Amino acid sequence: MLVFTTHSEVRSFLKDKKKSIGLVPTMGALHKGHVSLVEKAAQENEWIIVSIFVNPTQFNNPEDLLKYPKSLEEDKFLLAPFKKKLILYVPQSKDLYPEKLVSKTYNFGGLEKHMEGAFREEHFNGVATVVESLFRKLHPNKAYFGEKDFQQLQIIRALNSQLDLQIEIIGCPIIREDDGLAMSSRNSLLSPAQRKSVPIIFKTLQEIIAHQKEWNISKMETYFRRSIEKESQLKVEYFFVAKTSNLIPVKQIEKEKFHRIFVAVFAGKTRLIDTVELGIL
Ligand code: PAF
Repeated sequence: MLVFTTHSEVRSFLKDKKKSIGLVPTMGALHKGHVSLVEKAAQENEWIIVSIFVNPTQFNNPEDLLKYPKSLEEDKFLLAPFKKKLILYVPQSKDLYPEKLVSKTYNFGGLEKHMEGAFREEHFNGVATVVESLFRKLHPNKAYFGEKDFQQLQIIRALNSQLDLQIEIIGCPIIREDDGLAMSSRNSLLSPAQRKSVPIIFKTLQEIIAHQKEWNISKMETYFRRSIEKESQLKVEYFFVAKTSNLIPVKQIEKEKFHRIFVAVFAGKTRLIDTVELGIL
């Protein structure tokens, strides 16, 4: 597998190869969810670039940044099956932020205002800054992102069209453990007791979906909070139902429109998010 630490090395390696390039941006601590993105990129492109960079500007909490799991050797092992067509790009901050390690300010017309945008100040400015830098420096044809971070995915689509970067953005389904827990690098930070209790998040979301015709949103939220907080280690940070088109939370479900539930739950100090689609009424 080719490993580069600067975008100029990546670019000069790919320079004469008029091939399609799929980019999978990550912060490392890879799991099967990331592997599913790499698999899709491998099916659709001649070359895949996987970037590993823990982006400081998207962390609103310094402790969270310090604790973020790092496992470069295990990551390389997981990527080994793709090594014939894979470039691993592991930059230092200077390569992506040549001037100052600060985020730019973007306006995504409201997509960035709620859920993660409201609870993690500056988070999406940080994500958009690093993704813009990756796109401009690596020139991929396609880029792959998981739907677990659905709000991030929609913001990256908006970034791409606002700046006319002409990259095809591919959203890929959430990959879950057998017990329903959405795969996330942060899962490795859970204690054994927390790990045992967190499948209740997806289980409760499924129960809500099963009752979506009878329950209003306030009942859904009360049910979610009660069910999660029965577990002593878990605390709900937010529960929202938002319209898929604009990601604005609603109090009532509109007929014939797509909606999703978005939740954030703390298991001790580890923060987990999840999202599911509600069926059309
Ligand atoms: O989803 C992530 O892992 C990060 O937010 C991303 C897109 C790699 C930007 O740092």
